[in-house]
Amino acid sequence: MAKLEDCRHMGSAAADLAASPGSERSADSGLFAPVASLLGDCGMIGASAALHALGELVVKLADSDATVLVTGESGTGKELVAHALHDRSRRASGRFVALNCAALPEALLESELFGHVKGAFTSASESRVGLFAAAAGGTLFLDEIAEVSPPLQAKLLRVLQERKVRPIGAADEIAVDVRLVAATNRDLAADVEAGRFRRDLYYRVDVVRIAVPPLRERGEDVLLLAEHFLAAHAARLGRRVPTLDADAAAVLLRHKWPGNVRELQNCVEHAVAVSTGDRIGVDDLPAHLRAASGPPPPEPAADDLAGAEAHDETLQRLSDVERQYIGHVLGVLGNNKTRAAAILGIDRRTLHRKLARSRRAARTPGNDPEAR
Ligand SMILES: Nc1ncnc2c1ncn2[C@@H]1O[C@H](COP(=O)(O)OP(=O)(O)OP(=O)(O)O)[C@@H](O)[C@H]1O
Ligand SMILES: [Mg+2]
Repeated sequence: MAKLEDCRHMGSAAADLAASPGSERSADSGLFAPVASLLGDCGMIGASAALHALGELVVKLADSDATVLVTGESGTGKELVAHALHDRSRRASGRFVALNCAALPEALLESELFGHVKGAFTSASESRVGLFAAAAGGTLFLDEIAEVSPPLQAKLLRVLQERKVRPIGAADEIAVDVRLVAATNRDLAADVEAGRFRRDLYYRVDVVRIAVPPLRERGEDVLLLAEHFLAAHAARLGRRVPTLDADAAAVLLRHKWPGNVRELQNCVEHAVAVSTGDRIGVDDLPAHLRAASGPPPPEPAADDLAGAEAHDETLQRLSDVERQYIGHVLGVLGNNKTRAAAILGIDRRTLHRKLARSRRAARTPGNDPEAR
């Protein structure tokens, strides 16, 4: 069996890892320790050229007060980048305040952002400082900015233009000294064209853009991150850090990571939880990863099928693999069906149909129409 070291040197990932500024050979283990390139102190692990370029951009932009739009697929590390921008800026001693715009209904989001005075609405028994004011001298991170409703988009635009907020129900505006960092995994320009996002706000938000590359474009980072998460999960459980065997590493390298770093983090957590020894093998990885990443099996002769089914318990129906994978994607994305549908490449209605069919099949085993 190949060693992990050999595996690291497979394919394009290999050639320049040894020379990469972000990786160091640890003296006693002979392995590359996951020392991240420019943003290691901000918790960003990775040695790929793509991550290095990202680090350079963050360092360059950190000290400007320009509004930054961080784009990238779900789970790529957009919030980590926003944090790094703050930590490396002259605002680092101020607060980093993060808000997910998709998590709150419109009325609540407005009062969270701008604050309110006592009696501004029925339940406003006390006045409340909004997050723009709370982040004064620091950074306000608005995640999923594309989800802000049109009326609130208009109010946000005013704040960005005037640098002042008026708490709900207040007579006067308050000046705010905040650096705004926004993030989205949507194509905001397409939302502007479709009339879902205000063009004028778009220009105010997309002043400088940082695009976080998907994990599948960061080849060698997969293994560095896997080792980092292995160590972190093992430490949390008070266990010795298990080693990743070469076959498991090869599966990780082949996978396309639609859920990006968050998916890898969950897979490693799963592997640590199910492994019994000091070694993580292919069998410890989640089933969807083995199923999706495995080499295509040779076409069996029709006569062999019945016998193979009887003997090989790893053979699964396509509908079962699909069901497991959909469950996995939903798990990685916190049950967000819109994003899950986008990653799966199907529309929301199709996803709902598939989920309903899974539920029916679970209630009446043997009644899955796709199984026939
Ligand atoms: N380069 C990295 N090094 C170490 N950990 C990382 C890296 N990138 C992401 N992570 C971890 O992966 C997880 C997802 O990252 P983060 O929340 O920043 O992604 P995101 O792009 O904001 O996701 P979403 O679109 O779902 O909001 C976090 O636990 C984060 O700490
Ligand atoms: Mg995020």
